[in-house]
Amino acid sequence: MASSCFLTLALAIALTTTTLLLCPTTTLAKRSEELNVIDSCWRWDPHWHKHRDHLASCSVGFAGKMLNNMGGGVTQYKVTDPSDDALNPQPGTLRYGVTQVKGKVWITFRKDMKIKLEKPLLLSGFTAIDGRGADVDIIGGACITVQKVNNVIIHGLRIHNCKSQPAGDVMGPDGNIQHLGPVDGDAIRVVSASKVWLDHNTLYSCQDGLIDVTLGSSNVTISNNWFRDQNKVMLLGHDDEYVRDRNMKVTVVFNRFGPNCRQRMPRVRHGYAHVVNNLYQGWGLYAIGGSMNPSVTSQANLFIAPEGKKEVTWKKNYQDGMSRWNFKSVKDVFENGACFDETTGGDDSGVDQHYTREEAFPVADAKSLTSLTKGSGVLKCSERSRC
Ligand SMILES: *[C@@H]1O[C@H](CO)[C@@H](O)[C@H](O)[C@H]1NC(C)=O
Repeated sequence: MASSCFLTLALAIALTTTTLLLCPTTTLAKRSEELNVIDSCWRWDPHWHKHRDHLASCSVGFAGKMLNNMGGGVTQYKVTDPSDDALNPQPGTLRYGVTQVKGKVWITFRKDMKIKLEKPLLLSGFTAIDGRGADVDIIGGACITVQKVNNVIIHGLRIHNCKSQPAGDVMGPDGNIQHLGPVDGDAIRVVSASKVWLDHNTLYSCQDGLIDVTLGSSNVTISNNWFRDQNKVMLLGHDDEYVRDRNMKVTVVFNRFGPNCRQRMPRVRHGYAHVVNNLYQGWGLYAIGGSMNPSVTSQANLFIAPEGKKEVTWKKNYQDGMSRWNFKSVKDVFENGACFDETTGGDDSGVDQHYTREEAFPVADAKSLTSLTKGSGVLKCSERSRC
């Protein structure tokens, strides 16, 4: 009990102090529309398309600032061709941009397009995919894998109806052909990767899940996404045996869940998730759950319970006496009878739950979330106005 009080307090202090240090722009957010702290960093700018990489300085949470994706030495690459060849990608295609361009790359799209991937899209490190200004759907085939790389931004993509894929060869990071095992059909898989920021994507109706963060991945921020129409939404932590995920740290912030999300928002194993300022429009089985000593701080979320299931939380094998949970709820708001089963008897796991100065951000009041998550998912952006 004492240690969990200490942690909550320490987190709160870390957040308040860095608010003052890092966010001189918060007064801008007081204009007619209310924007959250990530969006207000860039969305007021009508010339956003002239300095797209400014976005990289706007991330918060465990991914930190994505400063390695900006500045000189970043190749600008434009996708002009929606076709896909998994082994011999052609110039102008998305797969060419993420595998063949040397060094850091910032990828944009010339026009609206629907891309059906033949095989999972394996991203190289130091890659930003920026869908702003075009309507980009990754649809109906394989989807995205971020594996054994770091410094990756995925922003502004609609990814849906992803299908499982058999094993096979595929062009991977830095132009090397890799043999990939079969995959289940998730929208975005983050595997043994770190410093990954997934922002303003719209994800739905995939065969398995929408986001998986597994196999020793860490330092991930999942923000401003819109998740809907999905059974298993978000898995953090590979499986019960995979103890390396103890070091996993994920921030889940300003996302909208629903309608029609059933479970795993997220489901956590071993590591730590800071689930903060998200809007939950109901759930089927539960919203936040886990097994194997997971730690979750649920902070200032708005939980709107569905008819029937009122409990936000789910704990696998709660009665077995072996597993421990550290599920805390801080300033969450519960509507329509929602309730949260707090458990702080865990060992706080091995994870350092504190934010560094560049990771910290001011937490908003849960009552303002309907407005602060209004822009979740893909934004409509044109080069003639702000996003
Ligand atoms: C995660 O970020 C922290 C703080 O910046 C850093 O110390 C740590 O090495 C990072 N971990 C990984 C796996 O990149």
